Amino acid sequence: MRCGIIGYPLGHSVSPAMHVAAFTAFGIDGSYELWETPADALAARVEALRDPAVGGANVTIPHKQAVLPLLDVLDPLAGAIGAVNTIVNRDGRLTGYNTDAPGFLRSLAEEGGFEPRGARVLVLGAGGAARGIVHALATAGAECITIANRTLAKGDSLAVAVETATGVPVDACCEPGDLGDYACIVNTTSLGMLGAQQAQLPCALDSAATGTLVADIVYNPSQTAWMAEAERRGLPVVGGLGMLVHQGALAFELWTGQAPPPGVMFAAAAEALGQGKP
Ligand code: ATR
Repeated sequence: MRCGIIGYPLGHSVSPAMHVAAFTAFGIDGSYELWETPADALAARVEALRDPAVGGANVTIPHKQAVLPLLDVLDPLAGAIGAVNTIVNRDGRLTGYNTDAPGFLRSLAEEGGFEPRGARVLVLGAGGAARGIVHALATAGAECITIANRTLAKGDSLAVAVETATGVPVDACCEPGDLGDYACIVNTTSLGMLGAQQAQLPCALDSAATGTLVADIVYNPSQTAWMAEAERRGLPVVGGLGMLVHQGALAFELWTGQAPPPGVMFAAAAEALGQGKP
């Protein structure tokens, strides 16, 4: 079975290492390729997925939204979020899924012991990643969600979209203010990523209540400056590697019908990151 990832650029991807490890664990004759695809080649790249030898693909930046009209069927969650990160080829028909959102929830549950039902949650950022995360938290029963984003208009429009779709109260602001009310704070901004923004914190944690879960979806470095600050304050912390691995595991299951053994994809992703691939 041939699978791969569609995006541009792809130099940083650890997905091949994760999926090859899962294929190997099951003894499946599978490959996972880097399909680096500029925008003007996207339609042809997606069309090529109908080949019977192809199981499907992951989709990443910048194509998660552009790919929607090129597919035959859209899973309802992917449709509601408006973004696809996984495509499955079934007899030449292409179905789009979003495994980022359930992957994030699984990471909160498994690595953080956190269930959103009834919780007040703060989400920092309002970009592509925030879209799936705010939607996932709302559909998982969060009591209310606040989005804090530098550009208020983007936060506002995401808040209205999710509140309309789910009925969960979502509001937006530029600065989060007092954090004492939140059971969980999630960073979806690029602050803390390896590179120029690595030392920047997405928000101060002075006012966070004891036990507030601090979740960062940045996975490189594996411990961001913000996560280190949370740990210094004794707050529970979840890093971004879990979401990366769980979205990959859910995609693998959609392609093969088999759930990868726990730990196999984690170890492969951590090793690939340690080797400085991203
Ligand atoms: P992704 O798909 O990873 O979410 P994105 O759509 O480019 O990437 O979104 C990046 C997020 O990080 C946005 O919320 C962005 O804020 P703006 O909407 O105001 O652009 C946020 N972000 C990036 N750099 C930032 C900075 N220096 N300070 C605050 N927020 C920042």
